Amino acid sequence: MISLDVNGKKYEVEAAPEEPLLWVIREKIGLTGTKYGCGIAQCGACTVHINGEPERSCQTSVKDAQGKKITTIEGIPESHPVKKAWIEDDVPQCGYCQPGQIMSAVALMKKNPSPSDDDIDQAMTGNICRCGTYKRIRRAIHRASIMAPDDTMAKGGKS
Ligand code: FES
Ligand code: FES
Repeated sequence: MISLDVNGKKYEVEAAPEEPLLWVIREKIGLTGTKYGCGIAQCGACTVHINGEPERSCQTSVKDAQGKKITTIEGIPESHPVKKAWIEDDVPQCGYCQPGQIMSAVALMKKNPSPSDDDIDQAMTGNICRCGTYKRIRRAIHRASIMAPDDTMAKGGKS
């Protein structure tokens, strides 16, 4: 059995130690917001936070995630400025890459609440969007940065 702390809740799951965290989150815990894109750490669709840092869950074993604080897209409150800005700017097209995009944006804004275009491009470079929503992503991050920070922003979200 592997113990995981996901979005502040403890889970005991039967999994091989090397099993990718992505599949355990999706199929054993049932949180399907985190997406599979490439499986080789090249697209960012599977991004979660581990101890507050954005990580590719397709390339993280459950063994390595054990004992750490894991946050998925479901653990980011709807009131978080990044989620609100995403809705206001109507960012998603097909939506598939967007949980990963949001997780990377939340991690960026926790470290840098007023990022420049360059900061955004650098932080988001590993998150691929086949629909090309990059301009709206950048706009939404700027929008989030000027929103009155609520509790979640001030504390950097739950992760
Ligand atoms: S599915 Fe993990 S980076 Fe693409
Ligand atoms: S919104 Fe379709 S892949 Fe990004």
